[in-house]
Amino acid sequence: MKTITKAVFPVAGLGTRFLPATKAIPKEMLPIIDKPLIEYAVEEAVNAGITEIIFITSHTKRAIEDHFDQNFELEEKLIHSGKKDFVKKINRDIFKDIKFTYVRQKTQNGLGDAILHAEHLIQEEPFAIILADDLIINNPSCISQLIETYKEHQCSVIGVNEVPENEIEKYGVISIDKSISINNTFFLKDIVEKPKTNAPSNLAVVGRYVLSSKIFKYLNNLAPSVGGEVQLTDAIKLMLDDEKVVGHMYEGEHFDCGSRHGYVNAIKYLAKDMFNE
Ligand code: UTP
Repeated sequence: MKTITKAVFPVAGLGTRFLPATKAIPKEMLPIIDKPLIEYAVEEAVNAGITEIIFITSHTKRAIEDHFDQNFELEEKLIHSGKKDFVKKINRDIFKDIKFTYVRQKTQNGLGDAILHAEHLIQEEPFAIILADDLIINNPSCISQLIETYKEHQCSVIGVNEVPENEIEKYGVISIDKSISINNTFFLKDIVEKPKTNAPSNLAVVGRYVLSSKIFKYLNNLAPSVGGEVQLTDAIKLMLDDEKVVGHMYEGEHFDCGSRHGYVNAIKYLAKDMFNE
């Protein structure tokens, strides 16, 4: 069995819902208290055993690359001004041996297109995908739960959870075979992107995947669909004709930090612990 060591982080999206904040700052760099969103997500991956992080980025997202690079000047200044403890915060031990790679997506043609940009780096391995704007708080983390399910079923796994009926049209939605569900894991029958009507269930895809590298076969030559974008959901749907894919209903608090509402709720949730509120 191949272990999951690589994770793709598509971060090239425009972040329209968060303008004007995201005009010059990547939405992934917005802080949840004192740590940018992207750091929560990378932390989640590294703690789950990922050793190679592949960012699919764009020309407006340079701050992400800088964030995971060393800043010698700042380190020197902190050391010389007696603020040595902060060096550990900007230069974290857990990221020391992690390989960070950056690939530019020149035009924002959608999530499916972004993932396709990692094909040459993934080659024949199963890999994780994490959408950093979906912040999911739990121990074990959402991606760890998916990796465990991958080990058990030896096939692609998609993180899903129940969403209210009035929000279902914002998500990819799965239909499942209820008769063969074990431990919150369901075999997918179908998947549709942002259904306006007749959603097949209330189980939505939420920002975490473990996929077989065969996904690239389906992403290549895939035509744009919903929103004029190349959708990862469409490639997963095609893959379902040839191999099994499971949905894992993860445990955890989910915040859609790409929306103002989710972002504010995430800060409130984490502030409770931090300030004992
Ligand atoms: P979203 O649907 O959240 O889009 O993308 P967005 O552009 O980031 O935000 P809004 O809707 O304009 O406010 C889902 C994920 O796919 C990435 C995004 O960065 C996000 O992590 N993405 C999307 C890309 O990397 N490239 C794309 O072309 C589109």
